[in-house]
Amino acid sequence: MNINFVIPCLLGLESIIANEMKSLGAENVVSENGRVLFSGDEYLLARANICSRFSERIQILVGEFYARSFEELFQGTKKLPWEDWIGEYDAFPVKGYSINSALFSVSDCQAIIKKAVVERMKAKYNVSWFDETGPIHQIQFSIMKDKVSLLLDTSGMGLHKRGYRPVANAAPIKETLAASLCDLARLRPYHTLYDPMCGSGTILIEGAMMVHNIAPGVNRNFSAERWDIFDENIWTVERERARDLVNYDTDFVAFGSDIDETALEIAKENAKRAGVERKIKFEKCDIKDFKPQSEKGTVICNPPYGERLLDIEQAQKLYKIMGNKFEQKRGWAYYIISPSEEFEKEFGRKADKRRKLYNGMIKCQLYMYFK
Ligand SMILES: C[S@@+](CC[C@H](N)C(=O)[O-])C[C@H]1O[C@@H](n2cnc3c(N)ncnc32)[C@H](O)[C@@H]1O
Repeated sequence: MNINFVIPCLLGLESIIANEMKSLGAENVVSENGRVLFSGDEYLLARANICSRFSERIQILVGEFYARSFEELFQGTKKLPWEDWIGEYDAFPVKGYSINSALFSVSDCQAIIKKAVVERMKAKYNVSWFDETGPIHQIQFSIMKDKVSLLLDTSGMGLHKRGYRPVANAAPIKETLAASLCDLARLRPYHTLYDPMCGSGTILIEGAMMVHNIAPGVNRNFSAERWDIFDENIWTVERERARDLVNYDTDFVAFGSDIDETALEIAKENAKRAGVERKIKFEKCDIKDFKPQSEKGTVICNPPYGERLLDIEQAQKLYKIMGNKFEQKRGWAYYIISPSEEFEKEFGRKADKRRKLYNGMIKCQLYMYFK
């Protein structure tokens, strides 16, 4: 089965996700602003859901067309082969958004798309009513500058929900973003990783999972697992493949510290659930007393921004302390994500490289020091 896929991405993560999909075997990979497109078969569908560290969800692209009126939206939707994906008893709710388009009322678009899919399937299944008691096939639409994309979500819960972080401390970083920071820092199995403001431990856990090849979704379920059109074997095969690739035999060690004892307790529990507790050492420590225990190391951290935690002035004081503690030294690299435009001034050094990234809705920069 040849399937066209779309992954919606946070701005700044497109190329990381495109590379990841290529490494998983995707074909025709194209990255656009805010999304990555590719094609592959149903095994790739299962693999991408189980193995992707950086994606929020994997969607099937059912079709795309331009529409400037409700009639064009209705006819364009009705033309698409919905019955190839959705069975007679399946549930198919519709949601989406519209940006810079003639069709701006989301609730009207939603109703019209639903009606068009129903009309199409009535004719195909020769029925007049759908109970929708079966597995959910979430239809997602996006209308951007009049271009309508109709998608089916295969993931269900966002892929950042790995299952190891049932609770988090205040202001945790999303698992997918934490994994992206580790990728941008080119974290390797022979590295020593530090996060001296580790909170619930997300960066350290994602880093440890990445270098040991632990697939983030191997222990959770996905929406499309319940769909009849796919052989359930695809999920078993891909989970086994992912488990076979795990390799704990590395020199990797990570050190996490924080001033908040409760956060550290949460971090330890999370690391245990993720299967990486033997690789990470946690201790209570104020950043002002940060003292690395190795000759070389990579520091990745997400300090308080002065929004959800601390005020701006306190956050800036921390940046200054970090600048003193994170010495410019051979064998050391530092990656700090912050929304502050003043970060480099407070830190005391110009970054060797910067990269614009979004932490949810907050526009940030990843300040990278590696020289
Ligand atoms: C934005 S949170 C980090 C969240 C973390 N990345 C996670 O995923 O849970 C910032 C962390 O810095 C810690 N922190 C604040 N001031 C600190 C200090 N002076 N020394 C060490 N940690 C500090 C807070 O306790 C908090 O856990």
